Amino acid sequence: MTTTPEGVSLGMPQLPAPDYPDDVRARLERDAAEVVARYPDSRSALLPLLHLVQSEEGHVTRTGMRFCAEVLGLTTAEVTAVATFYTMYRRKPSGDYQVGVCTNTLCAVMGGDAIFESLQEHLGVGNGETTDDGKVTLEHIECNAACDFAPVVMVNWEFFDNQTVDSAKQLVDDLREGVQVEPTRGAPLCTFKETARILAGFPDQREGAVEASGSAGPASLIGLRLAKGEATPARVVHPRDGGPHDEPQDRAPRDATPHEPSPAEHASSHDAPHDTSASDPAHPAGPVAEEGE
Ligand code: FES
Repeated sequence: MTTTPEGVSLGMPQLPAPDYPDDVRARLERDAAEVVARYPDSRSALLPLLHLVQSEEGHVTRTGMRFCAEVLGLTTAEVTAVATFYTMYRRKPSGDYQVGVCTNTLCAVMGGDAIFESLQEHLGVGNGETTDDGKVTLEHIECNAACDFAPVVMVNWEFFDNQTVDSAKQLVDDLREGVQVEPTRGAPLCTFKETARILAGFPDQREGAVEASGSAGPASLIGLRLAKGEATPARVVHPRDGGPHDEPQDRAPRDATPHEPSPAEHASSHDAPHDTSASDPAHPAGPVAEEGE
């Protein structure tokens, strides 16, 4: 949408996005062809292609979305819907280092909220804003499955565990001054654009970086092994009876009388409870008096 200088949307459609310069477009087309070739259906390459265009400009521009649409035979509306859904795609220019402070429950109570507040003050920026020198974009992020090491700060998706207000301030100061900082685990830190290219599926060329990243576990690699013919498809096991799907199952006729469920048919912890506050007289709905009231 077109906006006034004050940033007010006029609700007017924008002109088509400009194209990349010829040399940039040619280079991106070569990279995109490599990515698309990895998928049986080209549209499946959209997520890595969005990382690819993000690696070019540091955020996903309208030009980048137009490029993805043209390469994959999608509409720009389809590409925009995806690019605006996932938070790993930036929609406005930002810094070399994305500093994400986890403020989900565990990190928050362990100090994440205090870290985020202090970094806002220390850097003079709010959530999603970038320092004047273009180095650091600060944002609060959702749980990154590193709760054991709370509070966690991530820089360009690399982990900095067990942070404190002081260590986080030192971290952003070092980033702004160009001091090399080491993530708690994983590969050495690189810039946001370099990270985006790795996320697009291009190998990290830095010496020792791949080894430092570790390897995916067997469960993550099973699809790749199947595609290479190195593994045979696993048999699908029914969660209730434990039997494989490709063997005949005894089934009761539809009008059969109810029977006592076998242990395998009992609800698991993933099922909704049979008794709710509405149906269980022992647990009535509504406020419960506190002791002493
Ligand atoms: S709550 Fe912060 S990593 Fe899970």
